[in-house]
Amino acid sequence: MLRSHTCGELRSDDIGQTVTLGGWVQNYRDHRGLVFIDLRDRYGITQIVFNLSHDEQMQEVARALRSEDVIQVEGEVISRSENVNPKLATGEIEIKSTGLVVFSKSKTPPFEPTTAELPNEELRLKYRFLDLRRDELQKNLVLRHKMTKAARDFFDQNDFLEIETPMLGRSTPEGARDYLVPSRVHPGSFYALPQSPQIYKQILMIAGYDRYVQMARCFRDEDLRADRQPEFTQVDVEMAFVQRDDILEIIDGLMAHLVKELRGEELALPLPRFTHAEVMERYGTDKPDLRFGMELIDIGEIAGACGFGVFKNTIESGGRVRGINARGAAETYSRKMIDELTDYVSEYGAKGLAFFRVADGSLDSPIAKFLDDEHHQAIIESLSAEPGDLLFFVADSDSVTSSALSALRNRLGVELELYDPSELKIAWVVDFPLLGWNEDEQRWDAEHHPFCFPVEEDLESLASDPGAVRAQSYDLVCNGYEAGSGSIRIHDPVVQQQVFDLLGINSEEAEMRFGFLLEALRYGAPPHGGIALGLDRWVMMFAGHDNIRDVIAFPKTQKAADLLSGAPSPVDDRQLRELSIQTDLPDPTASS
Ligand code: AMO
Ligand code: AMP
Repeated sequence: MLRSHTCGELRSDDIGQTVTLGGWVQNYRDHRGLVFIDLRDRYGITQIVFNLSHDEQMQEVARALRSEDVIQVEGEVISRSENVNPKLATGEIEIKSTGLVVFSKSKTPPFEPTTAELPNEELRLKYRFLDLRRDELQKNLVLRHKMTKAARDFFDQNDFLEIETPMLGRSTPEGARDYLVPSRVHPGSFYALPQSPQIYKQILMIAGYDRYVQMARCFRDEDLRADRQPEFTQVDVEMAFVQRDDILEIIDGLMAHLVKELRGEELALPLPRFTHAEVMERYGTDKPDLRFGMELIDIGEIAGACGFGVFKNTIESGGRVRGINARGAAETYSRKMIDELTDYVSEYGAKGLAFFRVADGSLDSPIAKFLDDEHHQAIIESLSAEPGDLLFFVADSDSVTSSALSALRNRLGVELELYDPSELKIAWVVDFPLLGWNEDEQRWDAEHHPFCFPVEEDLESLASDPGAVRAQSYDLVCNGYEAGSGSIRIHDPVVQQQVFDLLGINSEEAEMRFGFLLEALRYGAPPHGGIALGLDRWVMMFAGHDNIRDVIAFPKTQKAADLLSGAPSPVDDRQLRELSIQTDLPDPTASS
């Protein structure tokens, strides 16, 4: 071994030992003939001291040390008696060096892994090997390892089998754009990288592997956001001979296990369950942040009867007026700040943002004069308002009031610091609608994917009122993120075709796209269902971050580029010819 200990290991008990350490030079201080360096590896930091008055050769090498050089140091563990550094786990000792080997010199790094002021993310991603030396990212990756391990242990203890499914497969039904891989052997044909293992895991149920789990890599060519990556990892689960509640119970158990193992906390079970209709009404979103209240309140009845035209007309034309109460915020938000909030909600379609500051028993607002006292009182009562509160209202369609007010609620939650950011509030949302109306294409789309079993009692409405049919589907939400999603699947080929019909997928097309699943369903399919948890999102939340890239070793940018390797990149003509692919782009590798 090139080292006897790590840089995080030595304590005062080790004083007197001769040790060998290896690591990165983090800090160099020359102090009256003594050179001090902090030597760093992923376990910690140990201070090394070189006494240069005795050894000229070492003097030269030690004086040439610079940040991020990789060295080996041999020496004696000595006490730092007066100069104990309480911030370091190894702060009671230092190494009096008797030998120094430089394994490799570093170019001057574009940023130091210890810098307090982070450079822009592009630079960090380009020099990811330096970025990954940072304490914070190392902690995140350790957490990620621990979470994956704890999840595997949990599923193993519960008789699940981890089974791999192909990366090179057929297009799957998750609804994003596929990443395609051309086949050399079958010119003109393509594999699709899996958007999820959905079909394969259902086939595993039909094949009798009744408890499946996989840490599955998924690939989706979609618009990226702070919580989305083009390739990400799911804790993918499927079970046979189960009903919805069996799956929720297993995942409840998983979450309690993770919270216990990784945070040492007890999670109260069962996790709360809300219907989709309920969270849409109370929070305006299907992934509410439950760390704080500020629920949406409908004042349609008051609005319809009042003298303020915007409110009254909205109600008369079938819309809604809903609002939220920012408690105690009347003085926090100036008129200018409210104008900013108005611009903000307009991004969600709101045509305006009405506000009232609550004074003693009355409301103060430019529009207060359009409402008589009776309506002031009714509004105060509906929102349980107290003097000093600030009330916001949006008058619009159901969906615009929902999206604008839920966005505003989230923003106010952050700005007014309404919750402890380290807290996790996990809950289920169940009974999603099976279908959603696609306004652009004037047809029904599957809300989740086309294999979700409808709620049995809604089956008869499938033909007459498709929009009202609920699915046996569920999302796991945490702190405002969708952190998992699943359903009971259709195991009856006849019901499956009924749903395909509604989605405008005729039997021919169904056979073409999903034929291998439909055929499998005809050979004895048990009732089954499952779920996939977004592993990256869970690590992000457990780590208290809001950027998914901080919990992935080699993430991609918002434009799906890997700045470290330079992927995606052009390929040479020969490779394209082998794949029988022609592009109409100029050959980027040709010399000009
Ligand atoms: P769904 O598409 O909802 O369901 O995905 C499941 C969970 O995966 C996470 N997730 C993502 N995480 C990071 N980047 C992305 N681009 C991304 N997309 C999704 C989310 C989400 O809740 N086959 C079904 C599951 C099932 O029915 O069993 C599926 O993939 O946390
Ligand atoms: P206006 O009549 O457009 O000048 O608007 C008067 C006030 O009502 C302003 O504070 C607007 O922000 C607010 N307002 C206008 N339209 C709406 C709406 N659809 N919902 C809520 N408030 C609105």
